[in-house]
Amino acid sequence: MGRLNLNNINPHVRAAEYAVRGELAVKSEELRAQLSKGTTSLPFDQVISANIGNPQQLDQKPITFFRQVLSLLENPQLLEKEDVLINGLGYKTDVVERAKWLLKHCGSVGAYSASSGVYAIKESIAKFLERRDGFPANPANIYLSAGASSGVNTLLHVLAESPKSGVLVPIPQYPLYTATLSVLNATCVPYYLDESKAWGTDLEAIRASYEKAKSEGVDVRCIVIINPGNPTGASLSEADVRAVIDFASKEKLVIMADEVYQTNVFIGQFHSFKGVLRKLQQENPGKYDDVELASLHSISKGMVGECGHRGGYFELVGFDAEVEAQIYKFVSIMLCAPVIGQCLVELMVNPPQPGEPSFELYDKEYNGIANGLRERANALHKAFEQMEGVECGEPQGAMYLFPTITLPQKAIEAAGAEGRKPDEFYCMRLLEATGVCVVPGSGFGQREGTLHFRTTFLAPGTEWVSRIIKFHQEFMDKYR
Ligand SMILES: Cc1ncc(COP(=O)(O)O)c(C=O)c1O
Repeated sequence: MGRLNLNNINPHVRAAEYAVRGELAVKSEELRAQLSKGTTSLPFDQVISANIGNPQQLDQKPITFFRQVLSLLENPQLLEKEDVLINGLGYKTDVVERAKWLLKHCGSVGAYSASSGVYAIKESIAKFLERRDGFPANPANIYLSAGASSGVNTLLHVLAESPKSGVLVPIPQYPLYTATLSVLNATCVPYYLDESKAWGTDLEAIRASYEKAKSEGVDVRCIVIINPGNPTGASLSEADVRAVIDFASKEKLVIMADEVYQTNVFIGQFHSFKGVLRKLQQENPGKYDDVELASLHSISKGMVGECGHRGGYFELVGFDAEVEAQIYKFVSIMLCAPVIGQCLVELMVNPPQPGEPSFELYDKEYNGIANGLRERANALHKAFEQMEGVECGEPQGAMYLFPTITLPQKAIEAAGAEGRKPDEFYCMRLLEATGVCVVPGSGFGQREGTLHFRTTFLAPGTEWVSRIIKFHQEFMDKYR
């Protein structure tokens, strides 16, 4: 027997739940392995991982400009053969120039960078924020991270003073937040999003959760907003963003704005917390000066979809300088974010512009991905509309649909007999019958008495959607 067993490891790690990579995902990998060994005993010939927003695992092709620059960063010797690059491989001159510029500032992508990231990349991000929001940004307040996950991890570590430290987290939510708070033994204060209002924020629900937690002795100090939402896809109106900032300001809550889906918007428009905060500050001199805002972005989503490269950043506004120094120290304990990931962040925030040699192809690829996502979302939505007991709002954004399912009583009983939640039971049967892996709503949190599942709309084609429709009909018939 080894020194470690399930009962003597960190109990907070044991307690954490992370459904998007949970039992169903593990089982889907087993099924995939069986298929690759040539089994013919399964009722499908392909596993579709619709459980996680992992675009390039499915169909999405990397954007050429990004990868051409990366290829030169990884192998700078190629720069000695510029004529081959340009005349033989069709690299454009702006690819070569950007690679040289990045190499000048990183040295080598095989070297650690400064703890908070390569300074020139932080400057490039600051310029992007300035263009996006119409207000200046300071590179000194920008921290590169290994994906937004690592940024969230840093911020929650620094925020969590004691088990009483509370963080308001939207429900349903991406389980990074609940899982990390579990690991830190801090308190998650859930607030429900309003399904009847396209999953918008409901300030009354936020206030009620906040007051309840406070009355139970929780020191609520932060509110997490995921905008556009995961799993809901909802993008908040400017009025909602204003209302949240106002509430956070009155109650002295740090705002953590997870904006990784900022370019995945089909309905409405993305309103950044930073931009809206600066507007509020301009309109009400002095009133919002103390608001503390951390906003996060990532290369994983959008049309970039480079989640395997692990890149992202967060920007801090209004943080106490000594706290920021501790955040810097925390980041430095991990040395630095992957430098290639940092370079991809730079390419994401500073892509080819009209008139530049790589622009035409970049623009074509970018729009091709954006249109493909929209078409697939709509096709999947249409399929859900036809399914008995399934209700799904119009696709709004992000990479997911999150339909409500109403299951027959007999199915709920059968789930209970297996010791499973009804939506978990449904998703497990779906996986076994079709090879399509989705995540039960219980993995994100949902109102008592409601059932959902979340699926990405990243998988190509419509054959897998037909598999879901057929399964659903058979499932309903079986348990009716
Ligand atoms: C809302 C949200 N935040 C953060 C992340 C993590 O992204 P990253 O790959 O940048 O760590 C995800 C990933 O799906 C997400 O959906």
